[in-house]
Amino acid sequence: MSQTDTFLKQQKMSQETAEAMAKAPGDYVMLTGDRPTGRLHLGHYFGTLVNRVKFQQEGVHTNIVIADYQVITDRDSTDEIHDNVLNMVIDYLACGIDPEKTMIFTHSAIPPLNQLMLPFLSLVSESELLRNPTVKAEKEASGHALTGLLLTYPVHQACDILFCKGNVVPVGKDQLPHIELTRQIARRFNERFAHVFPEPVGILTKAVEIPGLDGRKMSKSYGNAISLSATEEETAKLIKKSKTDSDRNITFDPEGRPGVSALLTTAALTTGRAEEDIAKEIGDAGSGALKAYVTESVNSYLAPIRERRRELERDIPYIEDVLADGNRRALDVAQATLDEVREAMGMVY
Ligand code: TRP
Repeated sequence: MSQTDTFLKQQKMSQETAEAMAKAPGDYVMLTGDRPTGRLHLGHYFGTLVNRVKFQQEGVHTNIVIADYQVITDRDSTDEIHDNVLNMVIDYLACGIDPEKTMIFTHSAIPPLNQLMLPFLSLVSESELLRNPTVKAEKEASGHALTGLLLTYPVHQACDILFCKGNVVPVGKDQLPHIELTRQIARRFNERFAHVFPEPVGILTKAVEIPGLDGRKMSKSYGNAISLSATEEETAKLIKKSKTDSDRNITFDPEGRPGVSALLTTAALTTGRAEEDIAKEIGDAGSGALKAYVTESVNSYLAPIRERRRELERDIPYIEDVLADGNRRALDVAQATLDEVREAMGMVY
């Protein structure tokens, strides 16, 4: 199947599953997660966090992995990992993730999850691993030689999803190859040993790419991201130095005017208005006026989230409890699945 056909098939499956999930949310187990490499930003917020909260509220069984082992796929240091993990929990809670409803855990704390890696690795071939487009792109971006962990992390991601029998995985388009591999691993395991795993479906988030302040995809590594944890002043400064152009008449034209258009999209997302309407209202007032408008909309939108963030930051023992509790629950789930796996493989002695 060509790449386009595969994508169309995945898109269709995503849509159908999202519709089915809306009808019977309790039948679905969502697993998704983030690498704790920094603070979450508006791109994460509108790209995935809003959706996670929505599924949580609708009654889907929601689980979030803070993928700490994935950090060392392409970097050497874990110096900031502890701080990043706690701040990630703070970001989630500030955005409306409820730890009573959603299990939040770090995969390094769940040995039986990681042990699934061994049987799963036996189910994939070297060439399947080598042709994963995300792995290839990340290898190039890292500037490193391909490490064994980077090569095999999609299999580890399958462990993240399958240990809790996740059947829906909200992700961006770049993660779809990993979901496809997870489905193959589940299918091969079930065929070879016994039926243990569902074949999970990737749920494509609607805003597939949020533009950063320079019109490129919002990403911490491009320095174009507005973090949820930034102060109002930092937000204003970031927006002020974002690249626009010299045409004073503000129009929405993502191809021709990426900078101006990214600002308009940011304002649209945070006010619920259409980009064109905002552009028309600002008219000839120039990018200074546009930037002032964007700063005001982003800061007002984020004000309650930031307020809640500040409260949570003052109670780190609570944050640690949330994580310890999530890890305890995830450990039980993982142990039960590993028991089934060993039973299916005749490895109970
Ligand atoms: N690789 C994902 C990312 O970089 C994070 C992640 C880790 C994940 N484990 C996962 C996403 C399992 C979905 C399911 O965004």
